[in-house]
Amino acid sequence: MPLEIRSLSDALGAEVIGLDVSHPFDDKIFATIHQAHLENLVLVFRGQNLTPQQQIEFSKRFGPLDAHPSQGNAHLEGYPDILVISTKTKDGKDVGIRNAGPMWHSDLAYRERPALGSMLYALELPDRRGNTGFANMYKAYEALPAHLKTAVEGKRAAFHSTRSDIDALHPIIRTHPETGWKSIFVNPQLTTGIEDMSETETEALLTEIYAHCDQPQFHYWHEWQPGDLAFWDNRCVLHIADHTRLDDPSYIRHMHRTTIAGDVPY
Ligand SMILES: [Fe+2]
Repeated sequence: MPLEIRSLSDALGAEVIGLDVSHPFDDKIFATIHQAHLENLVLVFRGQNLTPQQQIEFSKRFGPLDAHPSQGNAHLEGYPDILVISTKTKDGKDVGIRNAGPMWHSDLAYRERPALGSMLYALELPDRRGNTGFANMYKAYEALPAHLKTAVEGKRAAFHSTRSDIDALHPIIRTHPETGWKSIFVNPQLTTGIEDMSETETEALLTEIYAHCDQPQFHYWHEWQPGDLAFWDNRCVLHIADHTRLDDPSYIRHMHRTTIAGDVPY
């Protein structure tokens, strides 16, 4: 069956139909998927049945993997390349990262080399909520009012992770290394300031940028089904998890993430 790429929204996202990613496939198919990823920013492969190793092998087609710096029990035992995103507990302890991505962010933005992309595989899901929002930062940049474009021109922002105590500085507007398109790279979860700008100015500017980015015409909300594998481009996409039922004991959301290593933003 030939591959079909079906758009999921006007903003971003496409479903890849007709590919079982658990088995190796040829370079021609890879080129089709790669191009679809660059054009749609988020790809969803539904109905997958993946072992941890199969998810790792598929992820590696897109580049070397980047083990997440989170310590403790966040990695799947025996698989340092797989980060467990889960509300489950075992012996009173979380089995993975419980409250992952509560605000809009790009994975590992606080690293000198933020992630190229992330793949999230849904194993167990709640009966409602627990969805993931994706935002197209190319479109947000294109629609950015002129006064904001001028205000951030050539400026760098600071990023920080409280989870791993890592810092980095990156351009607020970055250029995608493969498409050459510009996007907004700051995010409310990990950006802590703007270089050579006072705290008051920074707060006012970032508040305005975030309000601009938080518009539905830039967003696609993915309603997960078990067996979904979503692959997003962290270089031009922000994402957020809807964890509004996190304190509800019946809310079980259990996923495996792989992270593809990226390069230094420019
Ligand atoms: Fe994330």
